[in-house]
Amino acid sequence: MINIERLHQNVTTWLKTSRQRVLALMNDPLTVATKSNRNDLVTNVDRTNQQFLIGQIQAAYPDARIEGEEGKDQKTKSLDGLVFFVDPIDGTMNFVKEHNYFAIMIGVYVDGKPVYGAIMDVMHDTIIAGGHGFAMRANDTRLPALADEPLAAGLIGLNGPMHAHNRLAVADIGMASSGVRMIGSAGMTFADIAQGALIGYISYLQPWDVAAALAILGHAGVIFSRPDGSQLDLLTPGIVVAATPQAHQTIMTMMNDAATN
Ligand code: IPD
Ligand code: CA
Ligand code: CA
Ligand code: CA
Repeated sequence: MINIERLHQNVTTWLKTSRQRVLALMNDPLTVATKSNRNDLVTNVDRTNQQFLIGQIQAAYPDARIEGEEGKDQKTKSLDGLVFFVDPIDGTMNFVKEHNYFAIMIGVYVDGKPVYGAIMDVMHDTIIAGGHGFAMRANDTRLPALADEPLAAGLIGLNGPMHAHNRLAVADIGMASSGVRMIGSAGMTFADIAQGALIGYISYLQPWDVAAALAILGHAGVIFSRPDGSQLDLLTPGIVVAATPQAHQTIMTMMNDAATN
């Protein structure tokens, strides 16, 4: 079994170095390219940061599989053994436009089970970390246990297009909450859930968008599922519903009603 304390120390060191490198690169003009569409961006910083993190992981855990967002060479088809999910810049659009509200994320799995996750909020120099038997924390401060708030009592993070089209009743779900937030970074949204600011998040996500959060928040009582209530599969993208147990139940009922009506 992997030593989680040592893993946390290693990941913290990598993320702190990675942050310094990102901040230094932000002093120069970014090289920005598009991928699948004009809003799907990748920069020189995303690419170089992924290479840096992969190099660190391979040096410390030579047998690990690695699933990183950028580049075709780092894609795993299996969750057997030790797997690291890497999102080198989460919220690239925010990174390019706002120079704020973006994250670096690492999620660690053993035989498909979430073990450890870390989300680095670069501009606020905060690492949210947690995992199996490893209490949720912000840097060195333990975070309080999450309250099981109902949907009506909390703010919810939503995916913009899903909200605009009321897909799976997502706009109605927003109306049933205390208010909707669209942050533009899955990692920053999950970090807000960890800190009790939001009670949930609904979005279409890739494995590296959700892997760290599932490890951190799944062990802190947040329920993660697909819209039909089934478990996430970390080899495929899809819609993720993450929320406190009470809110999750209400969301499932509203989505199910929308699908059957
Ligand atoms: C994106 C952000 C965004 C979410 C997208 C993700 P990226 O990640 O987390 O908030 O809505 O689905 O792809 O591409 O900037 O790493
Ligand atoms: Ca991207
Ligand atoms: Ca991402
Ligand atoms: Ca990314």
